[in-house]
Amino acid sequence: MEAKEKIKALRETLEQHNYNYYVLSAPTISDREFDGLMKELQLLEEQFPEYADPHSPTQRVGSDLSKEFEQVVHQYPMLSLGNTYSEEEVKDFYERIARELNEPFEIVAELKYDGTSISLIYEEGRLVRAVTRGDGTRGDDVTANVKTIRSIPLKLRGEYPATFEIRGEVLLPWAEFDRLNKEREEQEEPLFANPRNAASGTLKQQNPAIVAARKLDAYLYYVLGEELPTNTHYGNLEAARSWGFKIPDVISVCKSLQDIYDYIARWDVERKKLPVATDGIVLKVNSLRQQKHLGFTSKSPRWAIAYKFQAERAVTRLNSVSFQVGRTGAITPVANLEPVLLAGTTVKRASLHNADIIEGLDLHLGDNVYVEKGGEIIPKIVGVDLESRSLLIGDKVRFIRTCPECGTQLVRPEGEAAHYCPNESGCPPQIKGKIEHFVTRKAMNINIGPETVEDLYEAGYVKNTADLYTLKVGDLLRLERWAEKSARNLMASLEESKQVPFERVLYGLGIRYVGETVAKRLASAFLNMEQLSKASLEELTAVDEIGERIAQSVIRYFADEKNQQLVNRLKEYGLQMAIAEDKLANRSEKLKGLTIVISGTFSKHSRDEYKAMIEQHGGKNSGSVSSKTHYILAGENMGPAKLEKASKLGVKIISEDEFLNMIAE
Ligand code: IVH
Repeated sequence: MEAKEKIKALRETLEQHNYNYYVLSAPTISDREFDGLMKELQLLEEQFPEYADPHSPTQRVGSDLSKEFEQVVHQYPMLSLGNTYSEEEVKDFYERIARELNEPFEIVAELKYDGTSISLIYEEGRLVRAVTRGDGTRGDDVTANVKTIRSIPLKLRGEYPATFEIRGEVLLPWAEFDRLNKEREEQEEPLFANPRNAASGTLKQQNPAIVAARKLDAYLYYVLGEELPTNTHYGNLEAARSWGFKIPDVISVCKSLQDIYDYIARWDVERKKLPVATDGIVLKVNSLRQQKHLGFTSKSPRWAIAYKFQAERAVTRLNSVSFQVGRTGAITPVANLEPVLLAGTTVKRASLHNADIIEGLDLHLGDNVYVEKGGEIIPKIVGVDLESRSLLIGDKVRFIRTCPECGTQLVRPEGEAAHYCPNESGCPPQIKGKIEHFVTRKAMNINIGPETVEDLYEAGYVKNTADLYTLKVGDLLRLERWAEKSARNLMASLEESKQVPFERVLYGLGIRYVGETVAKRLASAFLNMEQLSKASLEELTAVDEIGERIAQSVIRYFADEKNQQLVNRLKEYGLQMAIAEDKLANRSEKLKGLTIVISGTFSKHSRDEYKAMIEQHGGKNSGSVSSKTHYILAGENMGPAKLEKASKLGVKIISEDEFLNMIAE
């Protein structure tokens, strides 16, 4: 078969499997077979860049190019919905519609999904743009990110209007939300309070590869356009389902107020079994003609309304507030409550997040507080029952000024909500946390758990990570639960850790914001600890995906003399402080000092390979053309914007062959 046809066939097959998997939830091949087909297509597309297509299923994995978002004006403003909270208010809505229409009508009942709304524009059956709600009039163009959402079709099936818009909700399913927060907890990054925040935060990521990894989903609920297939809302959603969209199948046409009440009663219970968060139902007049007759207010349609489910709430007494210190010194305030039953579980504690939240609630000890479990997993305090505050009002809850563990004055970095204990090398939970992190499998892979760390610390044998390497069998035998054999095992494990590659040693140091991926990037950019420790802000931020926040944190780490001493000791004990020789072998400085932008598609190597070659030869790869760019390595179909900018700035454009010559012997 011709490459072109083969590519076409693979794309169609993969789209069909995507649809089976993500929309129908009924896959017909294994993940492994799917990955195999995808790989085959990727290889062919690399070999034949002339057949590149931005709508190919391979584009869903997310390119790692970062872009600023462009703002786009919505063709139809994205309005909100009026809220109701009781059956009484639903009845008022229903009766108003009946009065104003004065003819028979139907109401479509749907679930109200609790994510972040998105507007998708299709032209000739292809997704051309995806825009966030923004301020309702204009939003951010997040097309690259949205393309990574597998349930959103890039190409439509069947017969569809030439142009139309479809709106829906981008959601992070509960299971993904839990996984993501667990990962963030391990990295001591701030947790997402609920799937809604996680979804909107993810959609605003600058790096589509990160978005792709988070497995967002999208449910669509509103088709707009001048040439729609039917004259009912329900009919258009059905049609959209046949074009390949994920339209919830729990929508229902109600012919009476009782039908609506039944729907509410049923779904307030059933919704808890759904894989995504919902916070109410939405009622919409079905006929488009009737919708038009009813019209809009400046804020919302007069033909639709939301009914919000009652968040589960309880009242209980605030007994005390405690403050916990994490591995990086972040302080978490926790409310200790009189145990109370809420949404099926007993709640004893609630997170208070930070000082501003405490201040905002004006909490006093002994207050009766309202606790809610809405979209949040961790219950939160939403208010104080002021009426019940007795004359003997308790002490006002104030955020602590000094560390509860070591007494050091706390700091609050500018622009952050959290307080930190800065005594990184002297504060017990921070020390123990750092050692626990250092020994984990992804870092030094030393065979001990938190309990042993605690024992070693309490016994005074280990006060920092370097002390681990001074341990002797005799020390361990003096501790409880240790026998000769396990002590020798630990010695062997410590010895083995001296072969752990540099990037994992770097990760193991536990520098704030330096997770696994960042550690890898830093290791390959700076080659060894020595150079990394001397890197300036400019040098650090010049590395792909290293932003100011990470750079500052690295600088802060190495500016601390105690950290320098620690690293020096680890070096003396024989840990890997540079990337391995064989990785260094093919390096040169032929491109030293040169900044090169890659643009277009190539035939001899992939973009990633060219990127690696630039770095390998000491050059810097950058995503955008500026006055600092020395060369543009241009393949076919270089973007017109880049071309124009390059000629304006007089940046030299080189071909694949010219580039390969530059780095050849
Ligand atoms: S229809 C003009 N249907 O709720 C009508 N909205 O407060 C536009 N939402 O911004 C919205 N589920 O993000 C509609 N089934 C549903 C919905 C839904 C969730 C969100 C949407 C919108 C907000 C309105």
